[in-house]
Amino acid sequence: MINVDLKNAQIKIEDLLKYQDQVTTIHQKLEANIANEDEFCGWIDMPLRYERDLDYQASWQKMNTLALKLQEEVDILLVIGIGGSYLGSRAAIEMVQGLYNQKAPVKVIYCGNTLSSTYVSQLLEYLTDKEFAINVISKSGTTTEPAIAFRLFYDLMVNIQKKAKDVVRNRIIVTTDKETGILHQLAKDKGYQTFVVPNDIGGRYSVLTPVGIFPMLVAGLDVERVMIGAQKAYQECKNDKILANPAYKYAVSRYYLYQERNKSVEILATYETQLQMFAEWWKQLFGESEGKENKGLFPASVLFTTDLHSLGQFIQEGSKIFFETVITLKEPTLDVNIPKFENDEDQLNYLTKYSLNEINYKACQATIAAHSGYQFGNVPNIILEWEKIDSEMFGFAAYFFMRACAMSASLLQVNPFNQPGVEVYKKNMFELLGKNK
Ligand code: PA5
Repeated sequence: MINVDLKNAQIKIEDLLKYQDQVTTIHQKLEANIANEDEFCGWIDMPLRYERDLDYQASWQKMNTLALKLQEEVDILLVIGIGGSYLGSRAAIEMVQGLYNQKAPVKVIYCGNTLSSTYVSQLLEYLTDKEFAINVISKSGTTTEPAIAFRLFYDLMVNIQKKAKDVVRNRIIVTTDKETGILHQLAKDKGYQTFVVPNDIGGRYSVLTPVGIFPMLVAGLDVERVMIGAQKAYQECKNDKILANPAYKYAVSRYYLYQERNKSVEILATYETQLQMFAEWWKQLFGESEGKENKGLFPASVLFTTDLHSLGQFIQEGSKIFFETVITLKEPTLDVNIPKFENDEDQLNYLTKYSLNEINYKACQATIAAHSGYQFGNVPNIILEWEKIDSEMFGFAAYFFMRACAMSASLLQVNPFNQPGVEVYKKNMFELLGKNK
């Protein structure tokens, strides 16, 4: 479902094949680590695990029942979480449903991902007269941003809206660790419904667990198809051979451009507005997994053609510290015909033989030629050809990029599954806030 095209990337097959031994060794290690909970490789066989593991089956059943109930009772689901605890579900919901979908049974809104008092105040006001449920998601159960948001929106539901106790119990759903953490204890004490973030899966690799799946279900996504897509990706990406595994072909290509061609920034370019949050999820995945020990590609993103009128200038003629990874699409979710005007007053009749998507595709081809052409931009372009955008594609793409990320971080010899650097700001902030140890 994703074809990795290197025609415009200034990469030869031999450039990739010289990493084959390293890739095989890393691949074998990742596969062997699935069995060891402390290695955080549980996401690797998650597409199969959810069907064969009885605990997961029970959890899926519970998620389905609860999602259907919420769809009948509330208009809004407030997802409270930060980083890997919200980006995956948001990426999936916006990618599959688009941004102005009128048919979604429940609107999903996000909080706990910011300390902006203006954003939070406006959201509190917006929700005051609305029927909403809360899914608070935190693996550690101690992250400050979601913890503050949960207190504020709990206060709204309980003390301002004055919802009855049983209503509150039904409308607060907690996704957290199975056994530990403040949130886990709180959910237990108050009798909230809970879902578990598996011990062996870290935040940014958790989109195919209840962390991502429950909000998708409430929003009305076909999550069975998400998992079918992930299973297809699992099958296509379980080969250790670079040329037979599209995720590894992409991973090694970006590693080659970083290592051998001095490219220190990767720009993910998309032409679909509904992929903007997917790009945010991708940035977190690669940024937190690779940026360690003074190594790693800085993951950036652009939305074309929008950003051709801003960053396009820099990409075409600015300093060449980057390469582009461009997502192209065979079939859009929806298309629009350009109407013909009899007197052609705006002189656009020449476009009426194309649909809007066909014009977008021409812009994409023109841009790839302008940016990558040797005599023009001379920016390597890795093209990822996607067939379509739907639930299955989301599952495939999410799994594809997680596999690629684990491989490329391992090639850099950094741990793809920790994020020690994130703690530094927290320590400083807690000192400034006078938090008790
Ligand atoms: O990928 C990660 O592990 C992080 O981005 C976490 O998801 C993020 O920090 C939120 O952590 P938690 O779910 O523990 O609140």
